[in-house]
Amino acid sequence: MINYRTVNGSFDLSGKTAIVIGGGGGIGGATAEMYAGKGANIAVVDCKDNVEDVAIELAAKYGVKTIGLRCDVTIQTEVENIVSKVVDTFGEINILANMPGYVELERASSIDIDVIERHIAINAV
Ligand SMILES: NC(=O)c1ccc[n+]([C@@H]2O[C@H](COP(=O)([O-])OP(=O)(O)OC[C@H]3O[C@@H](n4cnc5c(N)ncnc54)[C@H](O)[C@@H]3O)[C@@H](O)[C@H]2O)c1
Repeated sequence: MINYRTVNGSFDLSGKTAIVIGGGGGIGGATAEMYAGKGANIAVVDCKDNVEDVAIELAAKYGVKTIGLRCDVTIQTEVENIVSKVVDTFGEINILANMPGYVELERASSIDIDVIERHIAINAV
């Protein structure tokens, strides 16, 4: 007879810290909310101005610690700065959800190389 270990399906994340890049909206916003609902502290990272508001709302709704940090992921120094701030604030990073998104729909025949490179820099970061 096999004795299976029981799995804790609640996936409690209390005390863990998650960085959610692209957390200002879309899939990243939903992911930040899901992790907060599981008890994780959240660093909401996005290039939008709303990051602090999103962080404050999550803290109020789920009783977790949050921080909102503006960052453009195409700029290396900005990414390094937010990592330092998250470690300074929460002590360590346990989860990275990397979900920034950018799309500019143009005809393939006329799309500029800079636009292609920006898609790669953001979506494949
Ligand atoms: N929505 C879908 O159906 C779907 C399906 C498959 C894959 N994806 C991929 O998932 C990712 C997120 O998609 P989404 O639908 O949530 O997009 P979205 O546009 O709703 O959200 C993307 C977030 O990324 C942020 N962002 C954009 N550029 C940034 C930058 N330079 N630095 C920091 N943040 C930046 C935006 O401000 C926004 O809050 C994308 O890479 C997308 O290609 C989405």
